[in-house]
Amino acid sequence: MNKPVRKAVFPVGGLGTRFLPATKAMPKEMLPVVDKPLIQYAVEEAIEAGIEQFIFVTGRGKTALEDHFDHSHELEETLLHKGKTETHRTVLDILPKPGSVFYTRQMRPLGLGHAVWCAKELIGNEPFAVLLADDLVLANQGNCCLKQMIDVYNQNGGNVVAIEEVPREETYKYGVLNVTHDDGRIAQADGLVEKPKPEDAPSNLSIIGRYILDPEVFTELDKQESGAGGEVQLTDAMAKTMDRVEFRGLRFEGHRYDCGSKLGFIEANLAFALARDDLRDGVTDIIKRLSV
Ligand code: G1P
Repeated sequence: MNKPVRKAVFPVGGLGTRFLPATKAMPKEMLPVVDKPLIQYAVEEAIEAGIEQFIFVTGRGKTALEDHFDHSHELEETLLHKGKTETHRTVLDILPKPGSVFYTRQMRPLGLGHAVWCAKELIGNEPFAVLLADDLVLANQGNCCLKQMIDVYNQNGGNVVAIEEVPREETYKYGVLNVTHDDGRIAQADGLVEKPKPEDAPSNLSIIGRYILDPEVFTELDKQESGAGGEVQLTDAMAKTMDRVEFRGLRFEGHRYDCGSKLGFIEANLAFALARDDLRDGVTDIIKRLSV
């Protein structure tokens, strides 16, 4: 039996420079898609997938994230006092169980691999998930991206990442697989390259921000070797454990929105609004009006 995946890491230390000035005094993970911040979608996905412990790797200026997942007594009392019971419930619903959330600080922006390494002591010797809140996945109810990955992990163990095909000219934004076997759903690989130029990319199958990792990855992250962009890359550490940890890329069911880019973020807002009964008609009207 493979050890269960109980813990998830949320690297949220990034500066969010692509969304300045919006992110000057606010963490980029708090940007809302419709009416929920990005980080809440990621946490809800983890909860749906059965995760029990939530580890945030934060940095300076990120206290709004901690406040978001805590009681706001004044707000709660005011809502109750005004009889807004449904809104009151909405505010309470987002609270994880006391004692299930952990925070550690990255302290220096040395890359995604370094952020994950900062959670090493909180993870210990067990498999864990990593979710990048920038990558927002719209999937069918009850079948979120991480749950699909955990199903694959429970059968096979090893490392599992979510993958999708990207236009070749965009490989420079992603970790890319050197595929050895591909059954159309699960791709196996014997190498990974972080952010290759299109002409150097071994394929156009790219990792999106969902990982299930064997703790063996820490053996490589411990070395703190820098790769693409001078940063400690998670992709490189995974690649270096491929000789001893099986690796699978899952083409998940669902649609991923790159909320780290402006267009992706706008598209996500439209798509998530169109998926909601209370907003669909109104948003459809707006789109029609704006596109004439
Ligand atoms: C990170 C990873 C990259 C992955 C991507 C998914 O890059 O380093 O391998 O493909 O997330 O969004 P970033 O977007 O942080 O530059």
